[in-house]
Amino acid sequence: MATCEIPAVPEVHPALRRRFSPVRFDPDAIVTAAQLDTLLQAAGNAPSAGNSQPWSFIVGRRGDEVHDRIVQYLARSSTAWAPGASLLVVNLAHVRVEDTDNWEYSEFARYDLGQAVAHMTIQGLVLGLDAHQFRAFDRDAVAAEFDVPGHWEVTSMTAFGVAAHAPGEIASPGTSRERAEIDEITWARAGGS
Ligand SMILES: Cc1cc2nc3c(=O)[nH]c(=O)nc-3n(C[C@H](O)[C@H](O)[C@H](O)COP(=O)(O)O)c2cc1C
Repeated sequence: MATCEIPAVPEVHPALRRRFSPVRFDPDAIVTAAQLDTLLQAAGNAPSAGNSQPWSFIVGRRGDEVHDRIVQYLARSSTAWAPGASLLVVNLAHVRVEDTDNWEYSEFARYDLGQAVAHMTIQGLVLGLDAHQFRAFDRDAVAAEFDVPGHWEVTSMTAFGVAAHAPGEIASPGTSRERAEIDEITWARAGGS
């Protein structure tokens, strides 16, 4: 049973309101092993179709050996900011059944991975960590580097750390922070209070 207090005037949670994808991180900020465990627990607690849990993560903390192995496959655009983050997390989806002729593991594998990543990033906000998800890296090369088997897909990456700038202060090239209005993202809805 949910036990959160419901505010009289509903509003988006402050952590979600201030969330943004930084393009410069504090180069001295560290994510502790305990914080990392908490991020992974939050991801692992996400719901998934049939409780299939089709996710796995490659985790590099800045300065460690896994981090060094990930960084070499960043695209030029993400090399400008991602290595300075405290943590790089590669997000993997379990897309096929092992040793089969392309049988789908779950039709919701990427949906569920995205949800686990969302849980991880929101947990990060609670811990004071900002996050920038991205795909600007060589996914095949990362898969080869870490011997990821063919029934798993290297899908995306998340940089976690402490933002070193305010939202909107530095524009991320090729990206936008503009949002559609809620009536534009609502397919159908009855009126009333
Ligand atoms: C799956 C995914 C891939 C993304 N890829 C990139 C990327 O390659 N480079 C980048 O700078 N940002 C990337 N982003 C971040 C988005 O551009 C960003 O979330 C969007 O512009 C909205 O900005 P905001 O997160 O600050 O609100 C990606 C986000 C997601 C969820």
